[in-house]
Amino acid sequence: MFKETVQLPDGSLMPRLGQGTWQMAEDDAKMEREIAGLRHGFDLGFRLIDSAEMYADGKSELLVGKALEGYRREDQFIVTKVLPENANRKRIYSSLDRSLCLLGTDYADLYLLHWRGDSDLGEVAACMEDLKARGKIRRWGVSNFDVQDMEDLWQVPDGKNCCVNQILYNLGSRGVEYDLVPWQREKGVPFMAYCPVGQAGALVTQDRVSKEMMVRDPNVRAVAERHGCSIVQVLLAFVLRLEDFAAMPKAVGFDHIEENYAVKQISLTEEDIEQLSRSFPAPTEKIPMEKY
Ligand SMILES: NC(=O)c1ccc[n+]([C@@H]2O[C@H](COP(=O)([O-])OP(=O)(O)OC[C@H]3O[C@@H](n4cnc5c(N)ncnc54)[C@H](OP(=O)(O)O)[C@@H]3O)[C@@H](O)[C@H]2O)c1
Repeated sequence: MFKETVQLPDGSLMPRLGQGTWQMAEDDAKMEREIAGLRHGFDLGFRLIDSAEMYADGKSELLVGKALEGYRREDQFIVTKVLPENANRKRIYSSLDRSLCLLGTDYADLYLLHWRGDSDLGEVAACMEDLKARGKIRRWGVSNFDVQDMEDLWQVPDGKNCCVNQILYNLGSRGVEYDLVPWQREKGVPFMAYCPVGQAGALVTQDRVSKEMMVRDPNVRAVAERHGCSIVQVLLAFVLRLEDFAAMPKAVGFDHIEENYAVKQISLTEEDIEQLSRSFPAPTEKIPMEKY
């Protein structure tokens, strides 16, 4: 049975299957269709939506806000992200206010530092806690943090209140399994996987697997055939087999959105994972964090 939510360190629950919005809202002519796609997702039952102030320079957040019109706010777990250059006392308050205004809400369920950059982690944690106290965010986390970044965060006051780390993870990019996943599990910090379907199988960032795209791989195809599902569904099910991972594929096509939602019905077996790992093995050494 599909596990619908993951428990966050603050005890609250986060939906495990959501909708991504990167590369949406970049073309005004496509926005109506993109809004319709997100709403189709809400109607199917997607309960998490992921955006960022960076995406289309705020227009992704605006798109999400428009899509949410007429829907109950409390039914969606809204995630957005602050750029490192804005993650400081001087700028984070106006950054978040702009994001909330575009999203059409007065709080974010989860606010993430998009990547570490030159941010001062002590200041980030202090600002995040203040935003939480003001009721503007329910909880906060980070993105694109490798083990050393998490270690550094754990050293600053309130750094341990980080609820989640959003990272690149899919069948073709398994580097984090080597050290980050065990580290976060020991500390009880769950994951959000971005590019969970590897840009529909086209994205393979590890050198050792870059020769063969996932969609063409015979082992991936064999697993898809065994389950009577699409290759992209196999890729998404591969990520969601880990119960402390959420994933938010981006999809505009209604057929894609429906396929992604239906992944809840697909449960990969040990034999499937073993077969997929023949083509895309788990890491046996440290791989510097892959980002996109
Ligand atoms: N924190 C970060 O730094 C970071 C970085 C990258 C992404 N993200 C977040 O993670 C989300 C997902 O990552 P992503 O958008 O880069 O990649 P993705 O979700 O792995 O792939 C998106 C691509 O896959 C296609 N697709 C989706 N479902 C499909 C299906 N069932 N069958 C065939 N094709 C399908 C989409 O096509 P259509 O759109 O045509 O349907 C789109 O081209 C982003 O949207 C964003 O919210 C975060």
